[in-house]
Amino acid sequence: MKQSRMYIPTLKQIPSDAEAVSHQLMLRAGYIRQVSAGAYALLPLAWDVILKIENIIRKEMKKIDAVEMMMPALIPADLWKESGRFKTYGENLFKFEDRHDREFILGPTHEETFTSVIKEQLNSYKKLPMVLYELQPKYRDEDRPRYGLLRCREFYMKDAYSFAANAEQTDVIFNQMETAYKNIFDACKLDYRTIIGNAGPMGGTDSKEFSVVAGIGEDTIVFSDDSNYSANLEMATSKIEQVPSEKHLPMEEVSTPDAHTIDALAKFLQIEPNKIMKAVAVMADEQPVLVMIRGDYQVNSIKLRNVLNVNLVEEATPDEVRKVFGSAPGFISPYGIADDVKVIFDSSLEGLDNFVIGANKDDKHLINANFEDVVEGPVEFNDVRVVKEGEVSPDGHGHLEFTKGIEIGHIFKLGTRFSNSLGANFIDEDGKSKPLLMGSYGIGISRLLSAIIEQHNDENGIVWPAKLSPFQVHVVPIKYSNDDQHKLSDEVVQLLQDEGFDVLLDDRNERAGVKFADSDLMGFPIRITVGKKAVDSIVELKLRKTGETIEVNKDELVNSVKILLKNQ
Ligand SMILES: Nc1ncnc2c1ncn2[C@@H]1O[C@H](COP(=O)(O)OP(=O)(O)O)[C@@H](O)[C@H]1O
Ligand SMILES: [Mg+2]
Repeated sequence: MKQSRMYIPTLKQIPSDAEAVSHQLMLRAGYIRQVSAGAYALLPLAWDVILKIENIIRKEMKKIDAVEMMMPALIPADLWKESGRFKTYGENLFKFEDRHDREFILGPTHEETFTSVIKEQLNSYKKLPMVLYELQPKYRDEDRPRYGLLRCREFYMKDAYSFAANAEQTDVIFNQMETAYKNIFDACKLDYRTIIGNAGPMGGTDSKEFSVVAGIGEDTIVFSDDSNYSANLEMATSKIEQVPSEKHLPMEEVSTPDAHTIDALAKFLQIEPNKIMKAVAVMADEQPVLVMIRGDYQVNSIKLRNVLNVNLVEEATPDEVRKVFGSAPGFISPYGIADDVKVIFDSSLEGLDNFVIGANKDDKHLINANFEDVVEGPVEFNDVRVVKEGEVSPDGHGHLEFTKGIEIGHIFKLGTRFSNSLGANFIDEDGKSKPLLMGSYGIGISRLLSAIIEQHNDENGIVWPAKLSPFQVHVVPIKYSNDDQHKLSDEVVQLLQDEGFDVLLDDRNERAGVKFADSDLMGFPIRITVGKKAVDSIVELKLRKTGETIEVNKDELVNSVKILLKNQ
C-alpha cells in the first residue's frame, strides 16, 4: 500500500482540547477525526485496528460456539416500554419519532431486541443453550462524551446474549465467556484486572468487569494488596473495624447550634466522627428513604440503589427533608419518625453504642443513643458505604488499595429480568413452561483502541503490538525519487507482501525527518529505511518499541522481519 494513496491526515501540533494521551495521539497520527461531540470518523488506520480486534473476538467466540448475527440499531420504543427500560434507562437514551409519529430509539444495548427476536423459536429445553452476538455501533446520549473514543455517544460494541434452561448452563457459558474475554484482552496486550462489577439489584457477584489500569480511567478499581480480591468502587466492600463496645448510658438531648455537618458536630461535642450516626435523606423512585451510616463514611448510591431495588436515588431537598422529619437536614434521625419512612442502616453501624444522632429538631442532637432507643425490634444492616483505602479486604487478607481503571468489558448474569418482562418462555424437560435464563456480555471495541494506546505509547507516538498494528512494516525510502532506492523499496514491499505481511510504503516527496516522525507517530512495529546502501541491496531495520536498528541484506530481510515480529 502506498502512503500517498492512504488517508492519514497527521497533525504537527498537539491538539489543545485533547486531554487523554490516546486521544491526542489518535488525532495527531491521523487515526480519527471528530464529527460531532462523541461521534468520530474512524479513519483508515483506526478502522484497520478495529477490524483486527473484531477478528480476534470472532476467533474466540467461535471456540465457545457463540454465533454472530446483526440486529438493527433502530428499535421501536414499544419494545423498551414492554421491558420497562424506556422510562428507567435515563437521559442516555436517544429517542425520536419517525414520519408517522411512531416512537423509536437508537439501541444503547440489545437485550430487548435479542430476546424479542428469539423468543418464538427458543421455546424448548432441547434448543438450549444458545449464545448469539453482534459487532455493532451503539448509541448513548452521554452527558460528558470525552477522551476521544473512551466515552462516545456512538461507539462500537461487541454484545453477546446467552439463553439457557437452567443455572448450570448459564454458569458454563459465563465461565467460557470469561476465559474468552481474557484471551481477547491478552491478545490485545493489555494490563487489565477482572473485577467485581455492578449488575443491579439482583446481580450479586455474578457481574465481572474487565478494567484496564490507566490514570485517565473514570472508574476506581479497589484491590487487596495481599489477595486476589478486586472490585469496582461501586461494589467494593471491606471487613469493617468495629468501635469497641461500651456500657449503654441514658440518652440525652443536647443543643448543637449550627452543627450542620459531621465535622462541625464532632468538633462541637469533642468526639470522633465514628461515634456519630450520620443521616442522609434521599428520594428513592420518589419515596423518602433515610440512610444511616457511621459519621466517617459516605453513602454509595449504587449499592443503595441495589439494596432498595430502585432505579433512581436522589438526595432529598431541604424542603422535602423538613416535610418528612420536621427539621433541617443536619439534625435528622430515625428517632420518632413516621412508620412509613424506610430506614436503611449501613453495616458500619453494627455494634455501635452510645452514639450521637439528630433529634429531628433544629439545632438539637441526642447523645448516648443506642439502637433500643431508636428502633423497635432487631436491626437489619446493609452495606451501602463507599469503602476507603487501607481498610481490611473483605476476605481478611491484606488491605485495600485504589487505582484508576477503564472498563473495557463486562459480563453478567441477567436471570429472568428480560424473559419475564418480554414473555420469553420455554418448555422444560419436566413439561413446565419457564422463563429463559439470560446473560449479557459486552466489549467496548472502539474504547479498546484508546485503552490499548493509553498503555502502548512513548514520547514519539503510538507503539502497536504487532498483531494489532494496521501495518506490520513501514518501508521508508530516504529519497523515493532516487532510482536505486525506488527499485529496492518496491522489491522489499513485494517480498514482504508475498509473505503475507501488511506493508506501507512511504512514497511521499517529504524530507526524511518528516517521514521518520510520522512513522514513529503512527507506531508500526518495524520500519525499514531504504537509503544510500540501496546500491548494495542493504536496508536498515528499526524496531519501534526499542529503537534498536540492524542492517540487513535484501536476501535475509524476510527472515529477519519474521523473527523480529514474533517478539513484538
Ligand atoms: N460511552 C461509551 N463509549 C465507549 N465505550 C463504551 C461507552 N459505554 C460503554 N462502553 C463500552 O461498552 C461495554 C459494555 O457496556 P455496558 O457494560 O453496558 O456499559 P456501562 O457499564 O457503561 O453501562 C463497556 O464495558 C465499555 O467498554
Ligand atoms: Mg458495564
